[in-house]
Amino acid sequence: MTKTNRLNAICPYFAMFPLEFPMKMIDDFGGSCILDPFCGRGTTNVAARLNGAFTVGVDSSSVAYSISESKMVSADPDRIVSECANILENKNPEDIPEGEFWTMMYDRKTLKEICAVRESLLDDCSSPERIALRGIVMGALHGPLKIDGSSSYLSNQFPRTFASKPDYSVRFWKSKRLLVPPKISLIDIVKQRAERYYSERLSNPGGFILKEDSTDKATFSKIEALMEGRKFDLVVTSPPYIGMNTYIPDQWIRNWFVGGPPYVDYGCKGQIRARESKFIEDVRKVWANCEEVCENGAIIAVRFGNIGSYDSDPIEVIKKTFDNTSWIDIEVTDAGAPKKGRRQSDTFSANTKGYNEIDVVSVLSS
Ligand SMILES: C[S@@+](CC[C@H](N)C(=O)[O-])C[C@H]1O[C@@H](n2cnc3c(N)ncnc32)[C@H](O)[C@@H]1O
Repeated sequence: MTKTNRLNAICPYFAMFPLEFPMKMIDDFGGSCILDPFCGRGTTNVAARLNGAFTVGVDSSSVAYSISESKMVSADPDRIVSECANILENKNPEDIPEGEFWTMMYDRKTLKEICAVRESLLDDCSSPERIALRGIVMGALHGPLKIDGSSSYLSNQFPRTFASKPDYSVRFWKSKRLLVPPKISLIDIVKQRAERYYSERLSNPGGFILKEDSTDKATFSKIEALMEGRKFDLVVTSPPYIGMNTYIPDQWIRNWFVGGPPYVDYGCKGQIRARESKFIEDVRKVWANCEEVCENGAIIAVRFGNIGSYDSDPIEVIKKTFDNTSWIDIEVTDAGAPKKGRRQSDTFSANTKGYNEIDVVSVLSS
């Protein structure tokens, strides 16, 4: 990993495109004001920042929003650590989840520290240091143990990119005799990670992230008001892959950390869901909303695909989402077959039928 994209790795997300995609789109089409209406973990926004462009991201998931925000700030590593130390010294958490899952997932003291930071950040997450701290702790919440049983994560043995369901996890730990979670000091983890992700001073050309529903016109009125007359010249994005509707349940522990319940939330409020005709209608609304905040001649670049268990042609689906919009000259190309694990559909299921991902480029003629 080159030095300049370290911050992009602050916290995994279950579906993300590689940084190379938005970097290439910016290279090919230019862009000084760049929007992603489905920003996920903020990959487009990082690419924009690295290219000195103003950037806005929108995502209806609190997890995605919080990760993306942590990539927009500049914060001094020592100040992030002292903010964390200050919280741990002063905050006595009121709400510590209980039950077999939580006792096996985190050491008691580690969980208390996580809860102290969680509650304090839920009260106030306005400074760059606090926004950075939230991203750091989210990234450290779960991951694998090292062979010697130590860990650079806060949890017992657990996947890094997504959160297994509680019952499955408990059965797994019992079967592997991983009954006692490691004793991890939260401040030590924050020290290592603050240094890793924030010691490099990236320039900050400006922008913001919104936690909103992009199908909603009001979201774009809000963007317009905050943009003070500026318009976007490039949109780089990736809507939910057709058939994929578990962005929030698959991140349920990170979702808890940013204010969700301490159990799997299947509600998925504000998320575009699978069923084809509704999916097309919703994504079309987003492209139409983007028109309102883009300049004439702006380019939209979309990476899209489906998950293997869902039998529909992603090319047909994505083309239909542009019907009756002012986005014209639609060009579809194969996104190729990047290295295993580098395309979004690889992260969803081991049983994908191997649909290629596609890239769609179109221009606004309003
Ligand atoms: C394929 S992911 C985007 C991944 C992103 N390109 C990245 O690199 O992390 C699609 C995103 O759309 C978000 N999403 C789904 N429905 C939405 C809606 N109605 N408004 C805004 N975001 C939505 C999901 O939460 C998810 O983060």
